[in-house]
Amino acid sequence: MYAAILHTHNALRWLVLVAGILAVLRTLQGLNGKTPFAAARRLGLTFTAALHLQVITGLTLFVVSPLIKAAMGDMPGTMKNAPLRFFIAEHPTLMVVAAIVATIGGIVAKNAPDDAKRHRKALAFTVATLALIFAGIPWDRPWMPGQ
Ligand code: HEM
Repeated sequence: MYAAILHTHNALRWLVLVAGILAVLRTLQGLNGKTPFAAARRLGLTFTAALHLQVITGLTLFVVSPLIKAAMGDMPGTMKNAPLRFFIAEHPTLMVVAAIVATIGGIVAKNAPDDAKRHRKALAFTVATLALIFAGIPWDRPWMPGQ
């Protein structure tokens, strides 16, 4: 079960990233007046939903991962060990903050007074969310599940 969740978590990162990049491109199109906000919003919601799903698989890993169990067993040692500390502290913190920024961004953009402002807000929040995700991904781990 651990391997299945880890592989899902690994692969789902690409769905999150692709949805985020497409959402950015759509808002840029929108800013050029080419598409209405409804089209960008659909992609933004897909991005946020994929990110929330990834947070759920991540939190599940937090419970079942032997790496986390070992890290929890020796917290003073873990805090001095950068790779372990990354998975117990930096990674989950950055990703939870990213999910909060994406969720708030969706609400702020939807409530802006016109489509141009909606696109601008959506763009700012989506880029900020993607920056947090990029910073939080362990790029030194396998890029594909089971690699
Ligand atoms: C609260 C949110 C999250 C938590 C608690 C979490 C937790 C974890 C944990 C514990 C691991 C290491 C598991 C192990 O090796 O046993 C891990 C790995 C990983 N996480 Fe997350 N994660 C979260 C969100 C995310 C998000 C949003 C992304 C990307 C969009 C992501 C991408 C990855 C990747 C690529 C790995 C490496 C997978 C592998 O080695 O195959 N995580 N995560």
